[in-house]
Amino acid sequence: MNTELRHPSFTIWLSRASLEVSPVKLVDMSSVSPAGKAFFVTTPIFYVNDAPHIGHAYTEVAADVLARWHRQKGSNSFLLTGTDEHGEKILRTATANNQTPQAWADKLVHDSWLPMLETLDINNQDFIRTTEPRHKKNVQTFLQNLYDKGFIYQGSYEGNYCVGCEEFKTDSDLVEGTGEFAMKMVCAIHSKPVERLEETNYFFKLSQFQQPLLDYYQQNPKFIQPEAARNEVISFVSRELTDLSISRSKDKFDWGIDIPWDTDHVIYVWFDALLNYITAIGYGEDEGKLNSLWPASVQVVGKDILRFHAVIWPAMLMAAELKPAEKVFAHGWLLVGGEKMSKSKLTGIAPTQITDVFGSDAFRYYFMKAIAFGQDGSFSWEDLSARYQAELANGFGNVASRVVAMVHRYFDGVIPAAESITDADKKIEETAAQSIRQADAAMDDVAIQDALLAIWELVDGLNVYLTEQEPWILAKDEANRARLGTILYTSLEGLRTLAVALTPFIPKATAKLWASIGHELGDLGSQPLLEAANWNQLVVGKKINELESLFPRVEQEDRD
Ligand code: MSP
Repeated sequence: MNTELRHPSFTIWLSRASLEVSPVKLVDMSSVSPAGKAFFVTTPIFYVNDAPHIGHAYTEVAADVLARWHRQKGSNSFLLTGTDEHGEKILRTATANNQTPQAWADKLVHDSWLPMLETLDINNQDFIRTTEPRHKKNVQTFLQNLYDKGFIYQGSYEGNYCVGCEEFKTDSDLVEGTGEFAMKMVCAIHSKPVERLEETNYFFKLSQFQQPLLDYYQQNPKFIQPEAARNEVISFVSRELTDLSISRSKDKFDWGIDIPWDTDHVIYVWFDALLNYITAIGYGEDEGKLNSLWPASVQVVGKDILRFHAVIWPAMLMAAELKPAEKVFAHGWLLVGGEKMSKSKLTGIAPTQITDVFGSDAFRYYFMKAIAFGQDGSFSWEDLSARYQAELANGFGNVASRVVAMVHRYFDGVIPAAESITDADKKIEETAAQSIRQADAAMDDVAIQDALLAIWELVDGLNVYLTEQEPWILAKDEANRARLGTILYTSLEGLRTLAVALTPFIPKATAKLWASIGHELGDLGSQPLLEAANWNQLVVGKKINELESLFPRVEQEDRD
């Protein structure tokens, strides 16, 4: 039965998809993580100055898909996400709203960020807030350790600061402003003038890590992905690396973690924030847990914050004699009018605007399939609704509902046996095996779009198979019963493979499919992904259940 959903009028129109898309002592970091180590995926922690838009949700979904994929393969997969709550940007927003920064952060986390995880079906194992004691205390431990080792010194900073980025900017980071900021130099990301800072600060000796970082990039060619991001970082680090100011004087603002040996200063918000990746998993408190998860398998970040993760963060870890992550993957931006979608530019779309109409599976599927992970892309309602209809409803949903309906109609819902196997049946089995193989290879490279393309070979293959085999015609003659059973068994096995392979992407629809055809085999979550295409798992003679509509029809009003 189809549920009718109404589409809100298209008040926001975004352009069509486009592709713009002192000598340092080091520990040995060349070894890969020990066998059996958890697959640890992180997202950036999000600023709580505002509610999430679909750009944030995009990062979150990609990380969740990766974590779910590895969990389905049998790894102990751990997804960490959270919120970045200190810094001037949050303080200013809270003040403008007549609230303390803590009260503001609490409200945003509970009203907006945690609900976003629900909305998108994110299966995270932890959620860290940088205002939690477990974080604050161990950030101080980390900093004290670096200070004691001689990696931090006091100096004076004079230069530009962008509060939107919470970042010190060199003149070459700035561009000429337009409109109200014409004739001024502005931040290239926020299009707003930077502020001039003159402070006594503490500095981290980042410059000492120039060669160790370059060596690390060379010895670990997959550390920064995709390739263009890696090249950009290498050329940046090769030019020059200057020491980094890592504190802000409390005369200016105090919403941060105190420098442990000098409480007139708070820790620079990025230094504080990056440490969430280890304070959440036991740094300073639970070494066993830390070692079971760190180094992270993949750190998913947007390209705007790649340098923090691929330059500053590994240098901080090297200074503390910890290993850098195994991989940092920089994805592109969701663009509006060629610019990064952002709330401050009023171009943000709330994830619920999409999920309320199309559902969370469609959201997850669309962004993973429509944009090559690593490149920029533009969201459009037209593209989303066309793909929903063609790929999800008419592609996957249709083949599932036709096969289940025919098993009910012709075999009373009992799984029929497959008898003489033809080349066409064999081809479906081979396509299934190839889809799993190729998708897994793609996921190892964080090529999420390619993984979906590989799996869709099986969706399309099954649709073609049914069209060519015409089981509904065979059903008219009792003499074809054995052949009819073979076609439906083969199709059911194809659907079973799809349910397992697609569960990391579209967990709700695949759970419905599993409740219909796979329930006798145990939980969907316990089906080993790499064995999904091993044929003959469904037990002949067992009953299947009715199938709920996987992708209900969405009614669209004309665009304004
Ligand atoms: N708080 C820092 C991250 C600290 S991690 C130690 C931060 N927060 S953020 O809320 O501004 O951004 C979080 C993530 O959302 C980043 O990866 C960023 O790239 C991503 N996105 C924000 N806008 C985006 C788009 N328009 N498109 C895609 N991703 C975007 O940076």
